[in-house]
Amino acid sequence: MNKKSQQTVGAFLFDYSPTSLNLHSKLNLMYRSHTNGELRLSHLNQKVTLAGWVQKVRDKGFVIWVDLRDRYGITQLIFDEERTSKDLLEKAQKLGREFVIQVQGTVIERQSKNPNIPTGDIEILVEELTLLNNAKLPPFTIEDETDGGEELRMQFRYLDIRRNPVKNNLIFRHKVTQEVRNFLSNEGFIEVETPYLIKSTPEGARDFVVPSRMNPGQFYALPQSPQTFKQLLMVGGMDKYFQIVKCFRDEDLRADRQPEFTQIDCEMAFVEQEDILTVFEGLTRHLLKEVKGVEIEKFPRMFYDDAMRLYGNDKPDIRFGMQFGELNDVTKHKDFNVFNSAELVVGIAVPGGNAFTRKEIDALIDWVKRPQIGAMGMVYCRYNEDGTFKSSVDKFYDETDLAQWAEVTGAKPGDLICILSGETHKTRTQLSALRMALAERLGLRNPNEFAPLWVVDFPLLEWDEETSRYHAMHHPFTSPKPGQIELLETNPGAVKANAYDLVLNGNEIGGGSIRIHDKKTQALMFDYLGFSEEEAKAQFGFLMNAFEYGAPPHGGLAFGLDRLVAILGGQETIRDFIAFPKNNAGRDVMIDAPAPVDLKQLEELSLKLNLKS
Ligand code: AMO
Repeated sequence: MNKKSQQTVGAFLFDYSPTSLNLHSKLNLMYRSHTNGELRLSHLNQKVTLAGWVQKVRDKGFVIWVDLRDRYGITQLIFDEERTSKDLLEKAQKLGREFVIQVQGTVIERQSKNPNIPTGDIEILVEELTLLNNAKLPPFTIEDETDGGEELRMQFRYLDIRRNPVKNNLIFRHKVTQEVRNFLSNEGFIEVETPYLIKSTPEGARDFVVPSRMNPGQFYALPQSPQTFKQLLMVGGMDKYFQIVKCFRDEDLRADRQPEFTQIDCEMAFVEQEDILTVFEGLTRHLLKEVKGVEIEKFPRMFYDDAMRLYGNDKPDIRFGMQFGELNDVTKHKDFNVFNSAELVVGIAVPGGNAFTRKEIDALIDWVKRPQIGAMGMVYCRYNEDGTFKSSVDKFYDETDLAQWAEVTGAKPGDLICILSGETHKTRTQLSALRMALAERLGLRNPNEFAPLWVVDFPLLEWDEETSRYHAMHHPFTSPKPGQIELLETNPGAVKANAYDLVLNGNEIGGGSIRIHDKKTQALMFDYLGFSEEEAKAQFGFLMNAFEYGAPPHGGLAFGLDRLVAILGGQETIRDFIAFPKNNAGRDVMIDAPAPVDLKQLEELSLKLNLKS
């Protein structure tokens, strides 16, 4: 492998050269003899044909150099007065950025070599030049460091894809999906496609709906996931299924969410939770090894309840400590009413945080009070290097109290203890946000370190304030833990599910469950979730019917491919790993979608529009 063709993605050197990715066609193609990343001193004096885009022209009058680019790299072309005909020189002079050309010429040694690119030892003395296409001046520079803003690059995404950072992310994604397919196929999984035009499956988000012309007034929904279909494939005896599949969810967008995204969707029959964890831990370990060169033995596991208690979050980033310490017992005996009236008093020790200035701490307090975080305030305590303490509530607590705080939060001399208080769930969420922000600031979230974690034993149900009822936390097909179904009557919130998430560096990269596979339990579940018998039948009759024809015990999981690829690539914004992503308003600014449709088209679809505006 040539060192210069390697690019660093995270810690591991990922080889983007055509040969390592097996991207070279083995067929004898005519248009070009080589790619622009390929030629070396070993090709000296060979006649070659290249094609690509003009990245740069340097015209010194008597000599012209052109950087020719394609997916594989850049090769320098040379035209000079001595060796090039006048016509050809004139033709070369007219080349502009991003023109598409084909050249024939001879590989020669460069006089001044460029050690920064793999083809830097050679250049092509051009003998023939064919202009394949002109190009307008691109709206931003097509180089690794570009002057184009995000919106502009999204609008001209096809130009952005010519740049190494985006191109390499797409190649990286290809490599990951290829490894997924290899691993799962070797484990006996069969890739099966399921339909995109389906009926809505409740999975927590809103559906995108598609009107049916042939069935006036009726709609398909685009799948939020192929959940029910993969379960039906298990009833159909497929045993081990996977699919790399688009899913659609009409939800608020964030850096790690797109309205259409891709899952590695998997299901297995005749399995218990342990089997699923084993197989998909195996897949994740395989990917870490193959694409990052990272070997991780056994993934740790954490109960959902512990994740919430220790990190305030069901997807804890365990690359660093800063675990929560609950301080109720060591704060409630004094006259500080804020703590006395709080359901939870909880703190974290910020390593080296005592070095923060008063101004910096005040800024932290303002940060937690922002509406996005919503804390009422923050109490802090400096743990000085000499072992003494200084807190913002010295009026109420003495050194002995503060030493206890340090013990509970695991603070060491030189640390800063940050404490929030209030209603349990809210306070945990707020402190979790503070923990992550501080870790980011202190450089504790190293993108080259990988810390996977299984979070298990999720609650089956969660209370929804808006509708004042319980909802399935994962989805309605998830089975409760054995022996817990009776608890549904007395304490529904306490019922645990056979559900698990795979977390990587503080991101939920996958989730799944063991399913209910008998009609009676499924009907009971729908009943608890507030579906009438008729509603359950109308929406899920097909699944309940299938369960009457010998449904095997089954379970599965789905990875978020975009998230997985982004995190393996050392980033958290999934847009950068999607060829044609949507912006935060759910728009494709390149094709300008969504867009109105013709009235005639609406009529055909039997849709009436309120055109008052
Ligand atoms: P879940 O809803 O947890 O489970 O989704 C599985 C994984 O998909 C990813 N994900 C997303 N990625 C990008 N943009 C989004 N809008 C988005 N939403 C989800 C996450 C998540 O972990 N049918 C079940 C799986 C199962 O039970 O087998 C499901 O869809 O990484």
